[in-house]
Amino acid sequence: MSDSPLSTRRDGAVLVITINRPDKLNALNAATLDALDAAFAEAAHDDGVRAIVLTGAGPKAFVAGADIAEMNTLTPVQGRDFSLRGQRMMRRVEKMPKPVIAMINGFALGGGLELAMCCHLRIAADTAKVGQPEINLGLIPGFGGTQRLLRLAGRAATLELCLIGTPIDAARAAALGIVNRVVPAAELEAETLKLAGKLAGSAPLALRGIIDCINVGGECGIEEGLEYETAQFGLMFSTDDMREGTGAFLERRQPEFRGS
Ligand code: COA
Repeated sequence: MSDSPLSTRRDGAVLVITINRPDKLNALNAATLDALDAAFAEAAHDDGVRAIVLTGAGPKAFVAGADIAEMNTLTPVQGRDFSLRGQRMMRRVEKMPKPVIAMINGFALGGGLELAMCCHLRIAADTAKVGQPEINLGLIPGFGGTQRLLRLAGRAATLELCLIGTPIDAARAAALGIVNRVVPAAELEAETLKLAGKLAGSAPLALRGIIDCINVGGECGIEEGLEYETAQFGLMFSTDDMREGTGAFLERRQPEFRGS
């Protein structure tokens, strides 16, 4: 659909979702939040998709935040709904049963950093800038930023980024653990697709087990987390992919994982 705020394309088993509002630096308005929610819901159930790359259109921005023009006139009740709308979509991304990589091609500010943080991996161009500048608008992060940044980078960095609001460069974001890798801007797409291709060739049920263990274990005590891991580990022995992976190792050949 030409008026969709998203465009999608396939690269083998990798689905690339691009937020396509470059004239507004890919700002997240309600329509874009809903389109992302629908795109991820569909991708979750498409067995042909084994890894997802999420990025922003144009040379400047991944996502420059929630749409400030749209927020400007919201009532408190509408503001609360807007927050819930973004949080619901981002929780869906975080709980996706297949890996999602944020390809951070420029500014990832406010809702943009929040969106990147709910992805499982983040690769940034060396030109990217990330931050939580909501304080400069008299606002606070509302799509999970105070919570996910705290878990990702700790209290000191989260307080600094949210209280001061000044964006940081990609190198510092990597040093703080906010992004996994920084690559030259010209190599960002190739490097990201290479990584996504590797994930798409991995054992889907094991990838899903790892994501589930980390989502569940990150929010409960060690005993429950270990118990959950043990249950998931045991489940892997019911899969063809586990027989294939261990068998291929013993036969000194490359495994072929099918997600069964
Ligand atoms: N919401 C709505 N529109 C936005 C936006 C946002 N978060 N961020 C950028 N835009 C729009 C601008 O209004 C401008 O639209 P216009 O051409 O119709 O006036 C367009 O995108 C280009 O942005 P501009 O500010 O002109 O680009 P720049 O290169 O001078 O600055 C930024 C880039 C990212 C530094 C600047 O756009 C910015 O600070 N954006 C807001 C960041 C923010 O506070 N995010 C958190 C929101 S909760």
